[in-house]
Amino acid sequence: MSKKMFIIKYDTESGTGLANHYRNDGWVVENASSIAGVRSFLENEDWTPHVVVANLGLTDGKILDHLEEFKEAISFAEWIFIVEDADESDLDKVDGMAYDFLEKPFEQKKLDILVSRALRASRCNFQLENYSASTRKQYQKDSYVGNSEAVQEVKMMIDNLLDVEISAMIINGETGTGKGLVARILHYASDLRKDGPLVEMNCAGLPKELMESEMFGHEAGAFTGAKCRHRGYFEQADGGTLFMDEIGEMPLDLQAKLLKAIEDKKIRRVGGEREISLDVQVITATGIDLKEASEKGEFRKDLYHRLAIFCLTLPPLRERKSDLLELIPLIIAEFNIKANKRVKTIPDEVWKELMEYDWPGNVRELRNVIERCVLLSNGETFPGRWVQLQNYCSPNQTSVSEEQPDGERLCYVDDVNRVNIPLDGSMSLKEMDKYIIKTALEHNGFNVMETARSLRTTRETLRYRIQKYDLKTSQ
Ligand SMILES: Nc1ncnc2c1ncn2[C@@H]1O[C@H](COP(=O)(O)OP(=O)(O)OP(=O)(O)O)[C@@H](O)[C@H]1O
Ligand SMILES: [Mg+2]
Repeated sequence: MSKKMFIIKYDTESGTGLANHYRNDGWVVENASSIAGVRSFLENEDWTPHVVVANLGLTDGKILDHLEEFKEAISFAEWIFIVEDADESDLDKVDGMAYDFLEKPFEQKKLDILVSRALRASRCNFQLENYSASTRKQYQKDSYVGNSEAVQEVKMMIDNLLDVEISAMIINGETGTGKGLVARILHYASDLRKDGPLVEMNCAGLPKELMESEMFGHEAGAFTGAKCRHRGYFEQADGGTLFMDEIGEMPLDLQAKLLKAIEDKKIRRVGGEREISLDVQVITATGIDLKEASEKGEFRKDLYHRLAIFCLTLPPLRERKSDLLELIPLIIAEFNIKANKRVKTIPDEVWKELMEYDWPGNVRELRNVIERCVLLSNGETFPGRWVQLQNYCSPNQTSVSEEQPDGERLCYVDDVNRVNIPLDGSMSLKEMDKYIIKTALEHNGFNVMETARSLRTTRETLRYRIQKYDLKTSQ
């Protein structure tokens, strides 16, 4: 795979030296030494770089004054700045817009490391950009993401089900495997149903005594409190889909009425005389083994057999881990947009951790972990320290946040390699950033280099933030 670099340096001699260094390492490199030179490159070259290495001041102006324009023209590139005697406002701008920066003098090896990380980030940007377009297509066939064999089978089954009139079916799967998602796809992506209503009811969330009248409706005066006529979920779903979640929680006597409604395509309101004909597709979902429940007498066998004519079983994430490669960038892109963040790179060791975990809460758990990490991110790197897979919020961990008399919020650290931070809105992102750096400094005996390493950032970036937050660098 090709790797392309654009070097913007006022000092042509060192610019050429740098260019040769990277050319020897297989990079395609172009140089410019002025704002006009950058513009000419953008207008005349038909390739765009992965990485831009730049000085702040050029012969005919400051690059920061044109950065937004240039960044837009080279959309997937990552910018690394080499700074010298920069003032605070410039550094603030660089910290916000660049991949990273190095202060002069620096070791070549350091720049090499930054450059190779920036290359990976740039390639990831490209993928994320492509993915974000597809997130807009909610509840279409490809909203159920994955490419593993198990997922391909599910997708094929969805495809088949979209084109046929089915009166009832069941979606099976552990929590977070996408039962709700697939039910919505089966409605919204079906030419037969999409123009009708989709009505959702959760059988576990309704009191037993209310469930019948909620499902089938009631006539005025049918029972105490039934002041007027009520149209139930079945009637509301006429011409469309009724999605009955947690069907295993439905009382046995109601199961018999549900089966009759599915078979006859008719319902009767509670307290009503008349039968009402309906055209409703009933999609049920459960996380329990209904076959086993029916054998134990906890679920009606006849209803189970009626529903199981069309049965879609969704695989747990641990059996299709290769799909993480597609799911993770997609979910990051989604939360980047929602939270206005710009996470682009996932460090190798974080990938490893995510791939090795078994995800008992399946895609929902994965989404929650990624959401937390993206929200707490402070740049373009996926912050591995917020992944916290096994230990997060486990009951034997203590996390206390208290307001101090001077207004500062304290978070107690309960493990030398972790910090716990309240996510209840009591701390701003900036306060969290400051607190993390302060804690990491203390843990590392105020050794800036060690602290930078533990936060996976450069010494320059760390120094800059220590200054910005006015933090102590010794005991
Ligand atoms: N294959 C998938 N591709 C993309 N997103 C998915 C996939 N599976 C699940 N999700 C997402 O994960 C989250 C949880 O999915 P959903 O609510 O459909 O799970 P569920 O099986 O209904 O869980 P529960 O049994 O707890 O109700 C949703 O945001 C859903 O969009
Ligand atoms: Mg659900």
